[in-house]
Order: sequence, then structure tokens, then C-alpha cells
Amino acid sequence: MEFGKDAASFLSKMKQKHGDIFTIQVAGKFITILLDPHSYDSVLWESSGKLDFNKYARILMDRMFDVKLPDYDPSEEKVRLRAALQNKNLPSLTKAMFFNLQTVLLPDPNPLSRQWAEEGLFHLSYSIMLRAGYLTLYGNEEENYSDPSCQNKDRAHSAEVYNQFYKLDQLLMRAARSMLTAAEKKEAASIKEHLWKLLSVKRLNSKANKSSWIESYMQHLQELGVDEDMQSRAMLMQLWATQCNAGPAVFWLLLFLLKHHAAMAAVQGELEKVIRNRGQKRMQGISQEMLDSTPVFDSVLNETLRLTAAPFISREVLADMELRLADGRKFSLRKEDRLCLFPYLSPQMDSEIYEDPEKFKYDRFLTADNTEKRDFYKGGERLKYYNMPWGAGINTCIGKYHAVNSIKQFVFILLTNFDLELKDPEERIPGFDKGRYGFGMLQPEHDIIIRYKLKD
Ligand code: HEM
Repeated sequence: MEFGKDAASFLSKMKQKHGDIFTIQVAGKFITILLDPHSYDSVLWESSGKLDFNKYARILMDRMFDVKLPDYDPSEEKVRLRAALQNKNLPSLTKAMFFNLQTVLLPDPNPLSRQWAEEGLFHLSYSIMLRAGYLTLYGNEEENYSDPSCQNKDRAHSAEVYNQFYKLDQLLMRAARSMLTAAEKKEAASIKEHLWKLLSVKRLNSKANKSSWIESYMQHLQELGVDEDMQSRAMLMQLWATQCNAGPAVFWLLLFLLKHHAAMAAVQGELEKVIRNRGQKRMQGISQEMLDSTPVFDSVLNETLRLTAAPFISREVLADMELRLADGRKFSLRKEDRLCLFPYLSPQMDSEIYEDPEKFKYDRFLTADNTEKRDFYKGGERLKYYNMPWGAGINTCIGKYHAVNSIKQFVFILLTNFDLELKDPEERIPGFDKGRYGFGMLQPEHDIIIRYKLKD
């Protein structure tokens, strides 16, 4: 019970008592928790015949999204989908994201939009990122992004998808733990029905500008012989997998900038320099070269993710085996138990690695000569894994480069086009919704109101 309610404080107490490896029992299952980052490699690169990532993922797919797929080779699927989100496909995703962000963030200029408006920062960040991210991957209602009637349709449709998605997102953590009440199950079922219609194969087939990622995922499902209903369910599952992290990440990043004036000034200064160097006053599009010339922003993003990304890295133990730690200790793992790393506690919040680990320091990942700082130590030894928001090993995020580009584009477009400030500058940074530990980016316990207006 305590584990489900607040895994971070429960595991942190266990760590103080038992050290950096111990076994707990949750809902009848024995889970060995490993919290020594020097030893993570022995888990991350172990063969999938011994430590399996997919078995538990398939249980969650069913519990959260009612998705049951026939057997397939997940590593082959991953190679295919990774290619569609990286390398030669990245520029077209970045360009589409830029246009879609403009569509959802900058509606027709009218005098009213030049007045101060108030909104929850979490709601703003999550909705804009999800809507633009969804349009980028799943396609537009019509081909011409810049046509106002197409933009209006994209705005309306993506807003409907977001509103349903957000309601479902609030129920998913408890669905994953099989803790929904009968009324909540009914509510989740009806939201899912609505979303399956919005994401149906028929609707997707009629869209323009679909990404090669969605095209290749649709083809993969067809090759597996998955029927159309199950394909729509899989589309919703992928919407969550691809969109549940970037919006919350943007929320924390903007909130830290708004609360730390030196960080905001440093990011604004860097952004002005990047734009000025390219001879542009306002941005028309953001090249990869511009996106790669922002070491201060990169440090701010790494620091934000260090503080707010808390995925579990879980493996099912398929055969009795020995786990050897970096210091030479050996432990026996039993078949059918589970092994779990929780990088949020260590390395990310480990006071042996980071001074004042609970504090936001925007330049923590910057060297004196403005390059990325990569040397962090624990017990006198340099760490290979010192910040793991993207996971690592077999289950690294395959959308990382697209995610980083998308987050940067959103923040850059926002800061160049809008003035924004906290409604109450004294308001404290909210705590985390504690039920979300283990599932990726954390969300705040409550929203924070900001004021914003288009710059003159
Ligand atoms: C701040 C933003 C993001 C963070 C922190 C993040 C983090 C992660 C992590 C930790 C995993 C591993 C999850 C697990 O194995 O249980 C993961 C998987 C994944 N991510 Fe991301 N992600 C982000 C954004 C994105 C975006 C924008 C996309 C897509 C366009 C994406 C696509 C995926 C996919 C498809 C997987 C599953 C990979 C697989 O099949 O193993 N992610 N992400």
C-alpha cells in the first residue's frame, strides 16, 4: 500500500535501513530493488532470456489500454520505430512540430490576444505539447499546414483529443496498479471508447502529413494481423507512450525558469544570441544547428529532468540467476521475481553525487567553458549513469531527440513571442502527485496560475 501511494519515500526509507539492494513484497510479488548506479550495467545489458522487459510491459498494456497483441519480436519492432523517430526522419518531424506549435500556440492575431490572459501553467504546457505532438505524429486534417481553415480544424480536433486524454491520464496510474473503483473503471472505459473513435484507423487513413513513425507502426500492426478495433486501441496506447512526458517536462522547466531569475536571464540571453547570430528578429523556423547551440538551455533541461523524471526500470527474472554488483557482492535472483532500478533515488537525488540534490541549479550540467558537464562521482569513482530521465539500456526512450527538439521549440517560441509571469510570484513550487512515481515524468499536486500576453 505504502509503495503504491508514495514509492519514493517508501524506497528511500528502505534504502536507509537496508542499503542499496533489498527485496520487498508488493501484491504478492517479490521485487528486488537495486539503487547502486555503479551496478546498473549488469542489469541494463543482461540478455532478455534472463531479465525480460516485455512481459511486464504487456501486462500493463492490457491493464491500462485493453491492448492484447499477438506475439512478435519486440526488438525488431523497436529497430523499425526508432529509425522513424531519429536520424534522417528527425528534420521533417522538427519542421512539422514547428508549424503545429504555431497552429496551437499562436491563433489568429487579434487585438484581444494582446491583453494579459491567465491560465494554469501545467494545463498550458501539457495541452500545447500534446496537441502539437499529436498533430506531428498522427497527421493534420488537411495537407496545407498554413491554410487557416486547416488550422482551425486541427485546433478543434487536437483540443478534443487532449481533453479526453487528460481525463484518462488522471486514472491511468491506478489502472496500472489495478486499483480503480467500479465507478472509475466505467469512467475510464467511456473515455477510452471516445478516444478510440478519435484515433480510429478510418480517421487516420483520411489524414494528411502523417509521420513515417505512425505509417510504419500501422503497417506493423497490419502485418501482425491485428484487427481494426485493436489497432485503434494500440494508437491510444502509443499516444500515451509518446505524449505523456514532454508536456509535464515543459511545465517544470518553465516553472523553474519563472522562479529562478538568473536562470531565466541566462536562457533568454542565450536565445537572443542564437537568433541574432542568424540575423532574425522573430523565428521563421528553427534549424537543427540553432537547436544544437544552446548549452545553457541543455543544462536547464537536464537539471529539470534530474529533479522530476522518475521512471522505474523493471525486468522480470526468467531464470534463477546471480546478480554481481560493481563492488563484488553477489546476490541470487529467483525465477518469477522482479528486479527494479529506481534512478530517481540514485543517481538523480543522491547527495553523494549532487550537492543539495533537491535544489534547482540551472548550471549544474555546465562546465566553466560552457560545454556539457559529464563528470559526476560516487564513492570516488566516475559514474557512467548520473542522470537517467530517458531510461537506459534496452528500454531507452526512442523519441529522445524528437522530444528534446520539441521541448526547445516550444520554449523558444513561447519566450520570443510572449511575456509571461507568475500570477503570484511568492507561490511555492508545488509538491508531486505521489502516485506517479515509477511511470516517467512526475506531475504537480496542483496547477500554478501564470499571466501571459503576446509581445508588442
Ligand atoms: C521529456 C520527454 C520524455 C521522456 C522523459 C521520456 C522517457 C522515456 C522513458 C524513461 C522510456 C522507457 C520507458 C519504459 O521502458 O518503461 C521511454 C520510452 C519510450 N518513449 Fe519516451 N520520453 C519522452 C518523450 C518521448 C517522445 C516525445 C516520444 C515520441 C515521439 C517518445 C517515445 C517513446 C517510445 C515509443 C517509447 C517506448 C520504447 C520502447 O518500445 O521500448 N518519448 N521514454
